Amino acid sequence: MMQKSEHEEAAAGSGAVSAGQAGRERSVLMSALSAVGLGGDLGSEPPIDPMPTLVKWFEEARSSGRYDDFNAMTLATCGADGAPSARVVLCKAIEEEPPAIVFYTNYKSRKGRELGENPRAAAVFHWPHAKRQARVEGVVERTTAEESDAYFRTRPLISRIGALASPQSQPISGRDVLVASALRVAGGLAFGQELTRPEHWGGFRVRVRRVELWSAREGRMHDRVSWECAESGSGKREWRLSRIAP
Ligand SMILES: Cc1cc2nc3c(=O)[nH]c(=O)nc-3n(C[C@H](O)[C@H](O)[C@H](O)COP(=O)(O)O)c2cc1C
Repeated sequence: MMQKSEHEEAAAGSGAVSAGQAGRERSVLMSALSAVGLGGDLGSEPPIDPMPTLVKWFEEARSSGRYDDFNAMTLATCGADGAPSARVVLCKAIEEEPPAIVFYTNYKSRKGRELGENPRAAAVFHWPHAKRQARVEGVVERTTAEESDAYFRTRPLISRIGALASPQSQPISGRDVLVASALRVAGGLAFGQELTRPEHWGGFRVRVRRVELWSAREGRMHDRVSWECAESGSGKREWRLSRIAP
């Protein structure tokens, strides 16, 4: 005997529904779907350039006061072995022109090593208060030493000590090793001495090639638009936009 699919089972189960009830359900469904409308969060005609909207969503997440880390993003990298890895980092800047996002880390970490082998990254923000997701993909380069120095100076002293003391992503025998290393760094500081940035710590700038903005709508009719950035022969940047089924 042929097995019924899940869909067929569900359809058979609904045989008990009266014609009146089915009609009412249908009209509730139709009005729910028409309430979804055409213009979602991104409007019926999404912008040509996604970066101002990405910045707007980022700033709205900041001002919502709903997050300890409104700028947290999951960052995926993939080294020479082709195996992807992901972790959360903080996005420290979104730049509209040329389009880029910036984060800081230890260049000798796993992500740092993988980006050295394959300078491409993908990042995703999730802002649940607004039911929004933003995906960004691109090619990565290190920030300049001056930029990394400037950002390093803004960090609290304890974070700067941590950057020097922690061999990020390396195995350590226990937390005591880490604490001892941090105490050594702190103990070696003369009164009032500035802690300068170690060379193995700094920023990455992801030159954005692709953006996808996703905004939840009723009945899984989510708003989803992707943009791909291409350089024309004259070096002019052009965004190609596609609306994508959710
Ligand atoms: C909310 C949050 C923010 C973080 N921000 C950073 C960051 O900005 N830079 C960083 O190197 N690690 C950050 N981390 C730690 C990383 O997730 C990760 O543990 C570390 O960078 C080592 O990753 P890797 O071994 O894959 O290189 C953060 C973790 C969390 C949970």
